[in-house]
Amino acid sequence: GAPVLTDISKLEMNARKIEMWRGKPVWIIRRSQEVLDALPSLDSRLRDPDSTNEEQTPEFAKNAYRSIRPEILVLEGVCTHLGCSPLYYPEMIPQGFDTEWKGGFYCPCHQSRFDSAGRVFQGVPAPSNLRVPPYHFVTDTLIEIG
Ligand code: FES
Repeated sequence: GAPVLTDISKLEMNARKIEMWRGKPVWIIRRSQEVLDALPSLDSRLRDPDSTNEEQTPEFAKNAYRSIRPEILVLEGVCTHLGCSPLYYPEMIPQGFDTEWKGGFYCPCHQSRFDSAGRVFQGVPAPSNLRVPPYHFVTDTLIEIG
C-alpha cells in the first residue's frame, strides 16, 4: 500500500483523526500534558509497559509515550485480540469500569482495555499493545504513514 499523508495542523486537544492505511484505520491523536503525565502511573497494571514486543512497537516509538512527538500519538486502530476497532475515551472513566483505567481505548467486542498510549492492561483478552505503524514527520504539521 502507498503511504498516506495526514495534516495535523487543525487537530485539537484530545481530538482524533482517522486515516485508512493498507485497509486498516490509523488513529492520529493529540494528547494533553495531563494524559501524558498519567501514563507512568499505570505501568504496574499493564502486560507490557515497556513495549518490548517489536511487532507492535517500532524502535522509534520505544519510549514512555510510544510516539515520536510525545503529544502526537499514531496507532493502528485494530484490537490485537480479534481485530475489532476499539473505542476512544479521551479522558473520562466510563461508569462501571476499573477505576485505575484512566481512559484510552476500550474494545467492545471482548472488553479489552488499553491506556492512552495503546498499552494493554493485564487480565483482558488482547495479548499485546496496539500497534504503532511506521510513520514520520515530513514537516511540523504533516505526517507520512507507511
Ligand atoms: Fe478486542 Fe476481542 S477483538 S477484545
